[in-house]
Amino acid sequence: MRLILLGCPGAGKGTQAKLIAEKYHIPQISTGDILRSAIQQHTPLGEKVKEIVESGRLVPDEIVIQLVKNRLKQADCERGFLLDGFPRTVVQAQALHCDTAIDYVIDIDVPENELIKRLSGRRTHLASGRTYHILYHPPVVPNQDDVTGEPLVQRLDDQEETIKKRLAVYQQETQPLREYYQHFKEIEGIRKPTYIKVNGYASVEEIHHNILQGIST
Ligand code: AP5
Repeated sequence: MRLILLGCPGAGKGTQAKLIAEKYHIPQISTGDILRSAIQQHTPLGEKVKEIVESGRLVPDEIVIQLVKNRLKQADCERGFLLDGFPRTVVQAQALHCDTAIDYVIDIDVPENELIKRLSGRRTHLASGRTYHILYHPPVVPNQDDVTGEPLVQRLDDQEETIKKRLAVYQQETQPLREYYQHFKEIEGIRKPTYIKVNGYASVEEIHHNILQGIST
């Protein structure tokens, strides 16, 4: 099972990715989580991308393409994987599909006013990537991760101005991928992925159910 999750910032990619990865026993590869972890650990990659990620812009294609290609070579990807947040530009998609077959592209669709509510209320446990929402999915103890008890933080790019910037970047850079996948040209030896659009303005459970139904039909 090789999957891609597409969707605006806040569409619920990370939330659904965790459930799907658990169900199919495949790794969730979130480029956002990998970059944030590099920033937190002050690695050379982290130092290079910190300002870009925190201001809501996209990290240059060549950096993320290399990052994902290296990750996909690891043994745990042999039985499948789920890409969460990659590709995000047509250049990234072309670099992936030139040598990697994907079974499904799942596009989670959510209206913009709901995205702003979801992102501004999100709280994150940075070490694990687990997310909560102050109203929709609060932690058991306010501001503490349910599993470790460690403090939750508001991501710097979840401030209102940066959210608007990320949504604008999405429209310009990532939205064209919808067209790209709907008219995907078969590449020699690489089959066309099945494109599934899912209504993401529903409960977490309902969206998960609809994704599984799309995959199994
Ligand atoms: P990334 O971490 O990928 O951020 P994103 O795409 O903006 O997506 P988010 O993580 O914000 O949202 P999500 O869709 O995962 O939603 P979630 O499930 O958390 O990337 C961050 C940055 O890294 C980028 O801006 C860029 O700088 C860089 N980057 C990453 N990949 C890159 C790439 N390929 N190329 C270049 N740069 C890259 O849900 C959001 C909230 O809503 C949560 O609070 C959740 O609890 C709640 N929620 C979820 N589902 C529901 C529901 N159904 N109902 C109610 N609430 C819900």
